[in-house]
Amino acid sequence: MIISFEGLDGSGKSTQIRMLSEKLEMIGKKYTVLREPGGNSISENIRQILLDKNNYAIENETELLLYIASRIQLVKNCIIPLLNDGNLIILDRFADSTTAYQGYGRGMDLKVIRFLNNFATIDGKYMPDITFFLDMETDASLSRMESRGEEINRMESADSEFFKKVRNGFIEISKNEPGRVIRINAANIKEKVFSDIESVLKERNII
Ligand code: TMP
Repeated sequence: MIISFEGLDGSGKSTQIRMLSEKLEMIGKKYTVLREPGGNSISENIRQILLDKNNYAIENETELLLYIASRIQLVKNCIIPLLNDGNLIILDRFADSTTAYQGYGRGMDLKVIRFLNNFATIDGKYMPDITFFLDMETDASLSRMESRGEEINRMESADSEFFKKVRNGFIEISKNEPGRVIRINAANIKEKVFSDIESVLKERNII
């Protein structure tokens, strides 16, 4: 079972993943949290290239292929062995981020992205079973991101028009795949957001 969390930067993914982890600990379920890009040393190295502000000259094609390379490494190196070992996998971002950020945000060909995501997930076999799209107004998520007090990385330094397109991308994905992608109102307080997530997981007999 693979569960992914998606949404704009500042939408509260980390908090919800932490709350879900605590719940899984409590009920004694074996799980692993992995982040994208990252999750293993090679993908973390790729992450550094992608997020380094000095790499402003990176081409859209290069950016896309690096996210895909990082994903392939994560799938083969971590996800497959961890699933085989009986883990529930929780992903902090995955293939939908590429569709939303590189496809809708950067305007790259969605057919190419579909092909590459399919390639990275071994013909779609390792696509998530459930994806929680934490949705909120773009401006609200951007001000949350800025108030974190952390340094803004290369991706986060894009303008608000870019993030509006990314949000629209996530909305389109959730409309196109309503069975897998659940849109959650992330503007609510964190306890309410978590109870919405919990209800879906209970309905599907996952917790
Ligand atoms: P994070 O800050 O949530 O760890 O994600 C790093 C950044 O990378 C975030 O701004 C979203 C972006 N991203 C993409 O543009 N495409 C992708 O495929 C992924 C996984 C992340």
